[in-house]
Amino acid sequence: MFNIILFGPPGSGKGTQAKKLAEAFELLHISTGDLLRSEIKNGTQLGLEAKRFIDAGELVPDQVVLGMLRSAVEKYPEAKGVIYDGFPRTIVQSEAIDAMLAEDQERINVLIALAVDEEEIVQRILERAKTSGRTDDADEDTVRARIQVYKEQTAPVFDYYDRADVAYELNGMGSIDEVYARLSKLVEQAQTA
Ligand code: C5P
Ligand code: MG
Repeated sequence: MFNIILFGPPGSGKGTQAKKLAEAFELLHISTGDLLRSEIKNGTQLGLEAKRFIDAGELVPDQVVLGMLRSAVEKYPEAKGVIYDGFPRTIVQSEAIDAMLAEDQERINVLIALAVDEEEIVQRILERAKTSGRTDDADEDTVRARIQVYKEQTAPVFDYYDRADVAYELNGMGSIDEVYARLSKLVEQAQTA
């Protein structure tokens, strides 16, 4: 299996790029944010619990996200690999996914962090809010809170995988196609490494 974490702050282009990569490299794309939003849309208990965290720009508790992730992965036992988008968000989640993969003698092969200037991501998210219908995108204070949460709780995930020598940072500025060109090259290199 070939397992990628597509990493970076909110609005760095993870979702957009993960979709393109998943198609080109025939990998399963798992976005925990999309899964949470679908739980909310379906009015499930999990969705109900998650909504107040998401609306506040905070993280949903690890055990909730991990349970949801496990059932998502288990649905696709034949997957040749997975692109994790928006997950792991904490060190606890990182240790849990590593343990889960280790049960099958698998691991995270590469983590790629999309680096984008802070003001650029705020502008991208406020622009996305016009069509995404995401309440957490529409309010600038919530957007800035999410960036702060990223810095405090999520950025350490990069260092965690850097210690395993699988973390890379990629310039995420520029057009979707420009970023994809850089990204796909790096994924090809990682796949043959
Ligand atoms: O990944 P995405 O930006 O779509 O996530 C939207 C929101 O969902 C986050 O701001 C956070 O509140 C919640 N989330 C989370 N834990 C994850 C993924 C998303 O708490 N692993
Ligand atoms: Mg996303």
